[in-house]
Amino acid sequence: MSNPFNLALAQGSGFCNRTAEKALIGQNMRSGIHTVIYAPRRYGKSSLAMEVGALLTDMISIYVDLFSVTSPEDVVEKIYRVIVATLGRTAADQTTLASRILASFKKLRLNIEIDSMTMLPEFSVSLGEERAEIHLELIIAALDHYCTAQAIKVCLVLDEFQEICALKESKKIEALLRGGMQSAQNVSFLMMGSRRTILRDMFEDRKRPFYKSAYVLPLPEIPVNEFVAFLIDRYAGGGKVLSGAEAGEIVAFVRAYPYYVQKLAMLHFNLVGERDDALPFAKSLLVEMEAADFEGIFLGLTNHQKRLLRAIAKHQPTTIHGQEFLVENRLGSQGGVQTSLAKLKKLDLAEKIGNIWRVVDPVFEKWLIKQ
Ligand SMILES: Nc1ncnc2c1ncn2[C@@H]1O[C@H](COP(=O)(O)OP(=O)(O)OP(=O)(O)O)[C@@H](O)[C@H]1O
Ligand SMILES: [Mg+2]
Repeated sequence: MSNPFNLALAQGSGFCNRTAEKALIGQNMRSGIHTVIYAPRRYGKSSLAMEVGALLTDMISIYVDLFSVTSPEDVVEKIYRVIVATLGRTAADQTTLASRILASFKKLRLNIEIDSMTMLPEFSVSLGEERAEIHLELIIAALDHYCTAQAIKVCLVLDEFQEICALKESKKIEALLRGGMQSAQNVSFLMMGSRRTILRDMFEDRKRPFYKSAYVLPLPEIPVNEFVAFLIDRYAGGGKVLSGAEAGEIVAFVRAYPYYVQKLAMLHFNLVGERDDALPFAKSLLVEMEAADFEGIFLGLTNHQKRLLRAIAKHQPTTIHGQEFLVENRLGSQGGVQTSLAKLKKLDLAEKIGNIWRVVDPVFEKWLIKQ
């Protein structure tokens, strides 16, 4: 019996809910409203971007993953490469494609080879003599020009958008991209990222180029009842029975965190019918499997940050600054805690959910409590 769960992007019937978000984002893209979506790591951003792309049948979705960009050249080359590849794939008339692309992307160097099997053109791009800044300034306008000429609309997905922030030229890149973004008529931006503090600052800080330039949507939790129904259904599809109570337990254990719901269900599904303690066993297996990653993250923190994060995991306090909390957890002064908390927030490790401080990653939280 094949396991209906996996850790790849969730698509089609493997994608649970987010109906309202999909409709909203689709609507925004069609109306030219640039949108930023942020959520923790492995919360379903890329899956959602793909689902939105599939839904936007009247637009062309161009998906750029900015993960691991190291320079402005890298940023612009990645964007060019994906644009050309996608336009190439979707163009009706392949024979005149290169000349049409070059008519809009005037600064681009396009190398064309004809694939001997398919006889279709294959493109590779290079920046030529021009500096990356010039390309960044022109690339969106060029894409917009192409769209006008071909009477198409584009949804440009820039995933892991916060990676731009990590570059020393980030302010300049932001300013250049914003210029193109503001004047584009046929290109809607869908920017996604996981370092929420960084992204929020990017779009909500008055002094930054992107201030108020996009609709900001923090990706909400998938409702528990939706996930429960989804799990029961997927198990049934795979030929096994999952009770409502067990489904609820799976979702609650990982606080409806999509990656972990998928992973815990994957582990549990294999054990159903094999052993009586399938669910408790799968839960402890999950924590064990993640331990190496958590150790790595933990090692990167200062001792004070470690103490604070562990204290948050154990006590889930309403305030970090209470005297009792500080003393009991040997956290020293208010000032020190303020600095460590800012770092933990920036790393997206801790956040206030409702009025309670929590570790963002539910399984990391369980691991920390055990330490
Ligand atoms: N709506 C959903 N329904 C079911 N599973 C989902 C859903 N969204 C995400 N997942 C699962 O969560 C995991 C992470 O999804 P995805 O890669 O889309 O997240 P991400 O936020 O882009 O992650 P990363 O931070 O690593 O880029 C995958 O295993 C995917 O199957
Ligand atoms: Mg992703």
